[in-house]
Amino acid sequence: MTDKRGNFGSKIGAVLASAGSAVGLGNVWRFPTEVGNNGGAAFIFIYLICIAVIGIPVMMSEFLIGRHTHANTITAFSKLAPGKWWRIEGIAGVFVAFMILSYYIVISGWTLFYLIESVAGRLQADRDYSEVYSGFVSDPWMPVLAGVTFMALTHFIIAKGVQSGIERFSKIMMPLLLLIIGILVVCSFGMPGSSQGLRFLLKPDFSKLTASVILSAVGQAFFSLSLAMGCLCTYASYFRHDTNLPKTAAGVSVIDTIVAILAGFIIFPAVFSVEEVSVDAGPGLVFITLPSVFNIAFSHVPWLGYIFSSFFYLLLLLAALTSAMSLHESVTAYVLEAFHMSRRKAAIAVSVACMTLGIACSLSFGIWSDVTLFGLNIFELFDFTASKIILPIGGIIICLFTGWHLDKKLVENELTNGGNIRFRLFRLYYFIIRYVAPLAIAAVFLQEILS
Ligand code: TRP
Repeated sequence: MTDKRGNFGSKIGAVLASAGSAVGLGNVWRFPTEVGNNGGAAFIFIYLICIAVIGIPVMMSEFLIGRHTHANTITAFSKLAPGKWWRIEGIAGVFVAFMILSYYIVISGWTLFYLIESVAGRLQADRDYSEVYSGFVSDPWMPVLAGVTFMALTHFIIAKGVQSGIERFSKIMMPLLLLIIGILVVCSFGMPGSSQGLRFLLKPDFSKLTASVILSAVGQAFFSLSLAMGCLCTYASYFRHDTNLPKTAAGVSVIDTIVAILAGFIIFPAVFSVEEVSVDAGPGLVFITLPSVFNIAFSHVPWLGYIFSSFFYLLLLLAALTSAMSLHESVTAYVLEAFHMSRRKAAIAVSVACMTLGIACSLSFGIWSDVTLFGLNIFELFDFTASKIILPIGGIIICLFTGWHLDKKLVENELTNGGNIRFRLFRLYYFIIRYVAPLAIAAVFLQEILS
């Protein structure tokens, strides 16, 4: 059974694929924005605590559920709790992965478009980039075409399977991504205003730390590590029996966090070197502010600006692609196993269904912008429901499931590979997963709902 499902052939492949899932649009644009809005280094400090105390233990839990059952997320929960309502968590996971993928491909498509624009030299001109942005996203054809192309790329990799698709491409794309980040960090440090940007990132302003900032850090940690959605559960179902789960979880979290912080090191010196523009939130930072920044900051050496912006959008595209792969795979693995389909057919079904929803999401920036529910357009509705409602609830359920439902021996066995490796912090882990993490996430959730 295990062999038929496919496995990651190597431990490094498992780490790189999971890191690929984690490192995504969330690191390169969401994290710097959160840092900018929430007090710079003080936010980073709290974020690091969240990763260590909540992120890593929850990731370990997802890993152990997936690796123990060697099944897609829904089957995994059914196997561990036959006939119980815990199965709902698996269903929610697959459902939400599907939903997130539908709108993730929209932003990823924009990234592809900006990469092409940059390589073609069209981001070099002194244009009004907010007009460029709104003109592009509201067009009925171009963003859809870009999203469909991105989906086709993702589909192609998933259809190839676990080892020759996901693992092989992660092994190529992740090192390339890290290399590009290195190049961009060096470029960014050479900019005139870089010291101001660095000071902002490194000098903590603890007066900005309110309860809501701490809670945003928890939320960002969850999103960035791809937790609570069954993505990492599905990937872990392809892990080998000798994969060290605590170490892998720590490794993936460290890579994800380093990438997020380096993205800050790339963006803030650049933004601060240009006085005319301010730190903006959301898509605006990446698609409006940065093109202007690249132009103004590199006006004396345009070729360097060309390289910087092209590499930057390539970085964003690679990050988005490896994350989209994990979202696609968690749905495909379910369809494939539940309906006994071939991988190719299952992947086609998922791609076509996601693309249909994705087109609706894309059009909500243009001709369907007045189709709204509770004041949210289709895109916003998807994002809100998935990341603000189902994601935190899913996180709490995973903690409760591992900490209270699963047998403690099973959990310990899985994390120590049946006693073959040592995991000294097991008791701390168990305490966190039973009490600290679920309560902390519940606090985030209530805060977001109430505000
Ligand atoms: N972690 C990815 C990012 O930072 C996004 C992502 C992929 C994700 N899979 C996920 C977020 C599962 C939540 C749950 O962009």
